[in-house]
Amino acid sequence: MPQVIDNPRELFAATEVWRGRGLRVGLVPTMGALHEGHMSLVAAVRAAGARPVVVSIFVNPLQFGKNEDLAKYPRTFAEDLARCDNHGVEVVYAPAPDAMYPVGFQSHVEVERVTAPFEGEARPTHFRGVTTVVTKLFNATGPCIAAFGRKDYQQWRTLDRMVRDLDMPVEMLGCPIARDEDGLAMSSRNRYLTASERTRAPAIFLGLRAASRAFARGERDRGELERLALAPIRAAFDVIDYAAVADADELTDPGPIAPEASVLLVAAWIGKTRLIDNCRLGSECL
Ligand code: PAF
Repeated sequence: MPQVIDNPRELFAATEVWRGRGLRVGLVPTMGALHEGHMSLVAAVRAAGARPVVVSIFVNPLQFGKNEDLAKYPRTFAEDLARCDNHGVEVVYAPAPDAMYPVGFQSHVEVERVTAPFEGEARPTHFRGVTTVVTKLFNATGPCIAAFGRKDYQQWRTLDRMVRDLDMPVEMLGCPIARDEDGLAMSSRNRYLTASERTRAPAIFLGLRAASRAFARGERDRGELERLALAPIRAAFDVIDYAAVADADELTDPGPIAPEASVLLVAAWIGKTRLIDNCRLGSECL
């Protein structure tokens, strides 16, 4: 079983010993409800030379808005620990909320422009919560390498920006989206789907694939690419927050759309569940 640590000082003391031995500590930040997508992040940090690997499990209240799913977010610690054990994770860092945010807590980390559109519009305080908690996880762990999934694409661009802007000495890995066989991106929130919603949910991937294939055939009209993506999603989902092409790095208006330079981002509701997904045009979802 992994060693379980629940406070930042103990974690830093442990990782300091490993760093002193010349080991490259790896970190995979998570909110638990682990699935094989998370385990692909563990494999990625290991393949990049990390040892030991720390998986943090912390449902971060700071990144949930008032009417979001903090209370019902799945908490499956015993299963998560077993999964980490099966994948050879050496340390699980699982702080309690008051160890993370003790009384009097009032400091935050903010990244500006890249957090403004898309998720930033739908969830105005979300990224400030993410960048603050990831900074705290980095400070407690002192990792050489950290891995994040590109399913949360804007989160990935935001954290990458934060590390560069603030000179954080962490090698950042942005890992490919892990998908079920029918294309649905793996997500802890997939557990909320009813059986009938689960059968409709892959439409989000079908939309991304239709646009990405059209792009590969030479389509460069942004409106047409967005229309192609929207058609299957509209048929299966109840509300679409956005389906839009953006610059793959800064998430701004893409200008001329070029391979690897543009990403198609989607957020949509199926019943009470909000799913997000994306693909880099012309190289993914083909
Ligand atoms: O992607 C997530 O699970 C969370 O946003 C993260 C990065 C662990 C921060 O709480």
